[in-house]
Amino acid sequence: MKVVRWTAWIAVLLVAAATLYLLVSGQFRDELLGTRDGGGIASVGGPFTLVDTRGATATEKDFLGKPTAYFFGFTHCPDVCPTTLYEMTTWLAELGADADRLNVVFVSVDPARDTPDALAEYMSAFDERMIGLTGSQEQIDAIAKAFRVYVRKVEQDGGYTLDHTATVYLMDATGRFVGTIAYGESDEMALGKLKRLIGDG
Ligand code: NI
Repeated sequence: MKVVRWTAWIAVLLVAAATLYLLVSGQFRDELLGTRDGGGIASVGGPFTLVDTRGATATEKDFLGKPTAYFFGFTHCPDVCPTTLYEMTTWLAELGADADRLNVVFVSVDPARDTPDALAEYMSAFDERMIGLTGSQEQIDAIAKAFRVYVRKVEQDGGYTLDHTATVYLMDATGRFVGTIAYGESDEMALGKLKRLIGDG
């Protein structure tokens, strides 16, 4: 009788421990967020072909070997993009030489206006280590889909603006999605994530 009761208690504790482990483990969290498929393979990111600010072809392979922070936007953006580029500039300054162990990539979602030259000009105002990428509409649509980036064109004053996802996507050195920095996140949180990304990379 006593043995049965102890066995039951041990079973309860094991189930509780396993549940706790699942709750805190990244896999469970990522599955809740829908950022991984059932096989545990990251479903954010993937192969892409774009062009850099010199007009040279750039693919995801160019950014393997170091962790990479990707974010998406456009040069005519009134606030979110310049804010993120400015914040990223201050974070890279804070990281100092360690920032060289990280790729930071800004992908235009407005290829019609963001030619390589326009993007180069725009990005010259920010940390020069950041890499600007653009491409054809088809190429941009493909990377936006791969990263689950939302982009919506909004007519405005005879022209247009774009609503877009403002999240920074963090990928490890093998190109695997490992987390995000949300728009408006504190400098302390963002820096902590970038340091951890570099450390893990
Ligand atoms: Ni923007």
